[in-house]
Amino acid sequence: MSRLIVVSNRVPPPADKGASAGGLAVALQAALRDRGGLWLGWSGETAATETESEQIKTRVEGNITFSLVDLTKRDQEEYYSGFANRALWPLLHYRLDLADFDRRDTTGYFRVNAFFARILAAQIQPDDVIWVQDYHLIPLAAELRARGITNKIGFFLHIPWPPADVFFAMPWHRRLLEAFTSYDLVGFQIDYDAENFVNCLVREGLGRETSRGTFKAGEREFKIGAFPIGIETAEFTSVAVEAEHNALVKRMAVSLNNRKLIIGVDRLDYSKGIDQRMLAYERFLENTPSAHGKVTYLQVTPKSRSDVPEYAEMQREIAETAGRINGAFSDIDWVPIRYINRTVKRTTLAGLFRMADIGLVTPLRDGMNLVAKEFVAAQKPEDPGVLVLSRFAGAARELDGAVLVNPYDMESTGGAIAGAIEMPLEERIARWRSMYDQLTRYDVNYWCESFLKALETQHNVPAFGSQNPQFRQAS
Ligand code: ADP
Ligand code: F6P
Repeated sequence: MSRLIVVSNRVPPPADKGASAGGLAVALQAALRDRGGLWLGWSGETAATETESEQIKTRVEGNITFSLVDLTKRDQEEYYSGFANRALWPLLHYRLDLADFDRRDTTGYFRVNAFFARILAAQIQPDDVIWVQDYHLIPLAAELRARGITNKIGFFLHIPWPPADVFFAMPWHRRLLEAFTSYDLVGFQIDYDAENFVNCLVREGLGRETSRGTFKAGEREFKIGAFPIGIETAEFTSVAVEAEHNALVKRMAVSLNNRKLIIGVDRLDYSKGIDQRMLAYERFLENTPSAHGKVTYLQVTPKSRSDVPEYAEMQREIAETAGRINGAFSDIDWVPIRYINRTVKRTTLAGLFRMADIGLVTPLRDGMNLVAKEFVAAQKPEDPGVLVLSRFAGAARELDGAVLVNPYDMESTGGAIAGAIEMPLEERIARWRSMYDQLTRYDVNYWCESFLKALETQHNVPAFGSQNPQFRQAS
């Protein structure tokens, strides 16, 4: 088997440095654990120097070798906080209102991609297969091709892809689209994203489909497909079972005092709809006085990208909303929202999911949302909780047993919470069973193998839409 090289901006922290919040690091770690390989990325550190240092820090964990590089402060500002997280992130999450298209940041983005390509090109051997992850690194393949690299290179986008008229608002949209054509395979989370992307390509006259999922751009042929990312289902379930003995989880159970538990777990990001979720919960409390004192909503939300002004602003807003709702509804022995701003260990998280009666996963837009899948994997088969899921999460294309909601509609999301609390056991089991079977079949290994098979062989990419049994729809 050829060596796999994964490239991503974010890499997981060392095993002894705690939990990583973020789907990419969690999923790829699981995917690479068996096959092993090289993982190149940003160390998370900023160097004091003004120009990038090509010094590589190496870390070995099991059969994964991490090659990490520092960025300069300017790189971090322009490439990561700037172009990636103030232009691409809002744009690809349909938030043109929050996008900031800055020319200097754009230059920084392409410069850092060229830097990563320089570092990587020096390490590539002829048979290596390269798998580039996420929106930080779209131009990487084009930079590698310019350096004469002819290896197979795949790209997977962990976040959504919007309709063409949203994407075309980006002043440099054509340059980015062209960059995609240097890959051999471009993968998206769900069929809707892939269809939007194909539409962009075709409307810009940059590619045409020659056979199912295969496209031609000039002389280059490449594939486009949808590969919904999974979790380590069986492993997460056993962690959740074990976690029933976890001291923190037991403390939580005691503190609940027989109240129903609603749980939300997200990075503090505007795409996650946390403010809207709290407002929906407020509607539920207003409309269901009998629930006062009998339900606790735990929101675990580590801070994320605090250097980006839109994030700092949102952090304030959410804290205010939580405070206001607690001020209005609390009693001397009951607080309706417990709001925590930190990561928790994976075991604890799994245990909290298992104990919860409702998982509230209501992003305004999300590529997949692994929290939704982890919540399902952690449930007790004989008494499972209910997943209340946004129709705008990629996971809604798979988890047909969830209660689907429109997160912009607080009244009906509040109603869905009330319905979930009252849902009879038989219905909960039927809904959960269907989702769990899906997650067992399509786990993270399936995701990794199906992507790499499409990249490394002549196989077609899986079909889009209803022809692909992986896609289902909740109702
Ligand atoms: P994103 O990649 O946008 O952050 P996902 O839901 O796809 O969203 O992935 C988030 C991952 O990070 C999940 O594996 C989840 O368990 C983990 N995570 C999120 N919040 C926390 C937290 N507070 N503590 C520990 N892990 C977290
Ligand atoms: O899953 C989407 C994603 O943007 C990943 O690329 C990223 O690692 C994760 O969310 C967390 O974001 P960040 O790396 O900016 O902390």
